[in-house]
Amino acid sequence: MKIIIINGPNLNLLGKREPEIYGAKNFEDYFRELQLNFKEIELSYFQSNIEGEIIDKLHEVGFNYDGIILNAAAYTHTSVGIGDAVKGIETPVVEVHISNIHAREAFRQHSYISPNAKGVLFGFGLKGYDLAIQSFL
Ligand code: DQA
Repeated sequence: MKIIIINGPNLNLLGKREPEIYGAKNFEDYFRELQLNFKEIELSYFQSNIEGEIIDKLHEVGFNYDGIILNAAAYTHTSVGIGDAVKGIETPVVEVHISNIHAREAFRQHSYISPNAKGVLFGFGLKGYDLAIQSFL
């Protein structure tokens, strides 16, 4: 089973960025833990701060992977293009957010991804990625 985690802008700063919201662990360390915990899965990871690169990656994996876990970060709330890409591909997408976006500013409460996601997980910290993988098993 092939699953990819796609992280959007500023998530390369996890561990340093607003740790009171996003925690103190960097994603590379957490990703290694996921690989150890899900040895049976071919797990890959992609991060970009650039909207078009995220769209290109969705096109590249969206017809041959079994699952996509997408945290589009701030683009969640702004990007019609990423929303359309999620709608246009075949691979199911689970949307993840580390924080509880519904307990934060009003602008975080709209997602262009959710209408076409298989499911949405938010507010569980990094554990949300683990839960998203389990949802594909
Ligand atoms: C986020 C929530 C977004 O609103 C924010 O812009 C992020 C991270 C989360 O994982 O909680 O960068 O997607």
